[in-house]
Amino acid sequence: MDNLPFVRNSLEWVAYFQQNAAELRVIPWESGANVTEAELSAIAASLRGWQLGETSDGSHLLAAARHYASAIGDPDFIDAVRFFIAEEQRHGGNLGHFLDLAGVERANSDWGDSLFRAIRYALPRMEVWATPVVMVETHAMVYYNAVRRATGSPVLRAICEQILADEVAHIRFQCERLAILHRRRPRWLHNVTMGLHRVLFAGIMVAVWMGPAGVAGRRL
Ligand SMILES: [Fe+2]
Ligand SMILES: [Fe+2]
Repeated sequence: MDNLPFVRNSLEWVAYFQQNAAELRVIPWESGANVTEAELSAIAASLRGWQLGETSDGSHLLAAARHYASAIGDPDFIDAVRFFIAEEQRHGGNLGHFLDLAGVERANSDWGDSLFRAIRYALPRMEVWATPVVMVETHAMVYYNAVRRATGSPVLRAICEQILADEVAHIRFQCERLAILHRRRPRWLHNVTMGLHRVLFAGIMVAVWMGPAGVAGRRL
């Protein structure tokens, strides 16, 4: 595997994810949802959308990771991705539990989530997978931080704090992989890639702004 300075190898990522799993914040579930009607009406729709987005069995990603790991001879990368998927599933599980406590029905489909999945599933390659994910995770940081600051619910605040802490590492995980993937690209192709990134990022930003999260953000 390419050795880039400051880039963790897959075994180091596995160790990080294991340690992170052992040091999770306590979520005070016993206090209930503890959320006001006004808060709920502002965030319920967006929370349902993000909860769905965090919920996946990870099979498509795992297939892409297996293919990629065997191509570069790094079997430990598959384990690192397994831990990453488990963290996303924990986010979805915690948000889902919060929605249940608040009496809000979980979402089964969401156009933004469907569009996002379609992009990733169209081409089962690590780059096609990691690029939109890191862009969405960047927006997730803004969203969960806004909810954390706005809500009076100790449970929701704790969930958001844990997600925010996890996402910092997730963004680094994706960025490192993209740096490895882009590293040997000729300059012209690198420039094309960066141009496409800008278009995709702008598209995701508009989609988030137009969707329930954007509506909630303007109300919070
Ligand atoms: Fe997440
Ligand atoms: Fe994430």
